[in-house]
Formats: sequence, C-alpha cells, structure tokens
Amino acid sequence: MMATRSDIVIQEVSPRDGLQIEPKWIETQDKIQLINAMSAIGFRRIEVSSFVSPRAVPSLRDAAEVFIGIERRPDTIYTALIPNHKGAELALAAGADELNFVMSASEMHNRANMNMTHERSLLSFAEIVKPARQRGVLVNGSIATAFGCPFEGLQPPEKVLNIVKRYLDLGVDGITLADTTGMANPRQVSQLVDETLNLLPSDKLTLHFHNTRGLGLVNILAAYDAGARRFDAAIGGLGGCPFAPGATGNVCTEDLVNLCDEIGLTTGLDLKRLIHVSRRLVGLIGHDVSDQIVKAGRPKDLHPIPAHLRS
Ligand code: COA
Ligand code: ZN
Repeated sequence: MMATRSDIVIQEVSPRDGLQIEPKWIETQDKIQLINAMSAIGFRRIEVSSFVSPRAVPSLRDAAEVFIGIERRPDTIYTALIPNHKGAELALAAGADELNFVMSASEMHNRANMNMTHERSLLSFAEIVKPARQRGVLVNGSIATAFGCPFEGLQPPEKVLNIVKRYLDLGVDGITLADTTGMANPRQVSQLVDETLNLLPSDKLTLHFHNTRGLGLVNILAAYDAGARRFDAAIGGLGGCPFAPGATGNVCTEDLVNLCDEIGLTTGLDLKRLIHVSRRLVGLIGHDVSDQIVKAGRPKDLHPIPAHLRS
C-alpha cells in the first residue's frame, strides 16, 4: 500500500537522543524491540543510535549491533548520529540509511560535546559526504545549540545561517536546527525558520526542540507557521545531551501527535498505539517519564459519569 503524505513528518529520536542520557544500561535486544515497535507504528524516520566514542556515551556503545538487529521497513529511513569520520565509517558498515552529522553553533559547546572546533568538525564531515552519497546513503547536517548555548547564551542567527550554508556547500541532503537545552522561544523560532527556508526547501529542514523550559510544543507550532514541516520528537519525552548542563528531554512524541490530532494536522501516526508503547517505557528505563497525554488520556477518552449523577 502506498503511504499517504502527512502534513508533518515526525522523526522519532528516542532510541538515540532518549537513551543516550539514561544512566541504566538498556539491553541491546530491548533497544531493538523499541525501534521495531516504532517502525510498526509507521514512523518514516527513526534515529536509531549514534556512532560516537563509547567513553563519551557508554549507553549507545552497541550502535552497530542495534543497526544490524532491527527489522527494516522499506519506507522508513534509519538514521545514525555521527561526530566524525570514524563514526561515519562505522555507521556505513552497520548499514545506516542516513548519517546525521552534528556540530554546535556555539564553539564552546562543540568543544564540550565533540572536543573539536567548528573547522575541525567541518573538515571531518567534508571527507564523508561523497563516499556516503556514492553508496546511496543520505547525509543530514545538524546544528546543536542553534537557538542558545548553556555556556555562551543566545546564538546570533547569522552564525547559524553561516553553518547552514557551509553544510549545504558540502552537499548535505538536509539540515536540522536543534535547541539542545530548550532555550528557544517562538518569536526567535519564527525568524530563524523563515531565514533558513530562504536557503533550502521545507522538506529538507528539521526542527529539534527540547522541552527543558516547557516551550517545546509552542516552538513547534511557531516553526510550522513559519513553514517547517519536519520535527524530531521522543516517546515519553526522553532525551538530553550529556555534555550540556541542565539538558532535559525532547518534545514528547505522544504529546506532539495529540496536538496535531486536535488541530487537524495529519502525522500518519496512531496515538493509541503510541500510548501503548509509551506505557512500557517506565519498565524499560526504570523511572517516570514526562508524557502528559499518557497520564491524562486523549481529550476524547471520556470518563464514566459518576454513579450518583446517572439518572
Ligand atoms: N566512534 C567510536 N570511537 C571513536 C569515535 C567514534 N566516532 N571517534 C573516536 N573514537 C575513539 C578513537 O578511536 C580513540 O580510541 P582509543 O583511545 O581506543 O585509541 C578515542 O575514541 C579518542 O579518539 P579522539 O579522536 O582523540 O576523540 P576525542 O577523545 O577527542 O573525542 C569524539 C571526540 C567526537 C569522538 C567524542 O567527543 C564523542 O564521541 N562525542 C560525542 C558526544 C555525543 O554523542 N553527544 C551527544 C549527541 S549531540
Ligand atoms: Zn537533542
């Protein structure tokens, strides 16, 4: 059956952004099951893991086994986050469909997260684009701290747009603007999305918001109104960068799908099935999660009328 186009595309990032910060070791088989469940629900894009130093992010040290173990759906793109040339080689060997390069708008966060300067990151990526594309593998360029850095504060839009241009010059297929520690506000988002869409079409731009200060969904709506159509989100609102002080979870996928359902934007995703998978998360990671829609139920899931009020 042909997949119908949805109004927005949600990329599920819980297996990577969500699990990278979890202190408890999650078994490889459990990661594979989570990804398979997301595939079955119908996500067209899933960020499976990252090929980074196992010393930096021990919780994702099984990235290759996870990639090899998952069931692939032909209409789903399985992405790997990449910090450098070595990560790209490992991801290509493991069969990733897309390499998601990441560097930060802020020099300070790039050093804290990747131990690299901007120029070093870009040099490392430049070597990878061609061999990846020759193998039919997509390449995306992510810009962390694009809206603000926990060390440097607000990042000027010109600086971010300059990195977008550098990525596009390298020949990437898409760009992600990431609000790593939830510092963005809707006005800033509208402006930066508007300016970025002068440089590339909306089907190539992804917005990645963390809900650290409770503005995640508002920022998504602002980005949507400014023309953005692709968004990252994590089931259970899991997530956070281990190298950014105060980082907390991504926008929660179930809450985002509920918002879209309520305002009539199609996502191609079934909220009931998502809630079903989300209910199993606490058992997997060993602590409560921040999904409001799972706790409250969908607006249309009404409660029985109290017995004494029934006639
Ligand atoms: N995957 C696995 N191992 C890697 C690697 C990769 N992508 N890149 C480097 N390594 C290994 C090297 O082989 C070397 O191993 P050795 O000590 O056994 O010889 C070791 O890591 C150090 O390599 P070096 O190139 O000096 O890296 P570094 O210590 O300066 O760290 C990064 C740089 C980018 C590898 C590291 O900072 C990192 O992985 N950061 C990712 C952080 C992250 O995932 N943040 C959250 C997502 S935004
Ligand atoms: Zn993130």
